Amino acid sequence: VRDGEIALDHYLHPRNRGDMPGPDAQATVHNPVCGDTTRLSLKMERGVIAQVRWQTEGCGTSIAASSMASEMLEGRTLDEAAQVTRQAIDGALGGLLPAKMHCAVLAADAIQAALADYGSRARKPGATSRRA
Ligand code: FES
Repeated sequence: VRDGEIALDHYLHPRNRGDMPGPDAQATVHNPVCGDTTRLSLKMERGVIAQVRWQTEGCGTSIAASSMASEMLEGRTLDEAAQVTRQAIDGALGGLLPAKMHCAVLAADAIQAALADYGSRARKPGATSRRA
């Protein structure tokens, strides 16, 4: 698979797309410039990300970036997930055109926001823990 074909494959065959009832972490991020939105949901099990779901209303590249990001998150610890940056997503997709880099930023921002949501849920007093 050549560069460019990776992104196209994820666009045509999105991985882990969909909604998730009862997520352990969830975030919705929006790019006000292009109007694209992505929502990322995570389920944790034994300290790792056991399931990832996303819904993106946006350009083809943002869909490819969400799909790739979801594969990069599966089975990762929270610390490892924090390393799934815009550069990491861009690299995994084979290198986006500069004009499309913000589509990887949308996916990376969703990851950071979901991790922050997980952290804030964990700090809530009386929060039940299913994260043994
Ligand atoms: S054009 Fe907005 S995320 Fe791709």
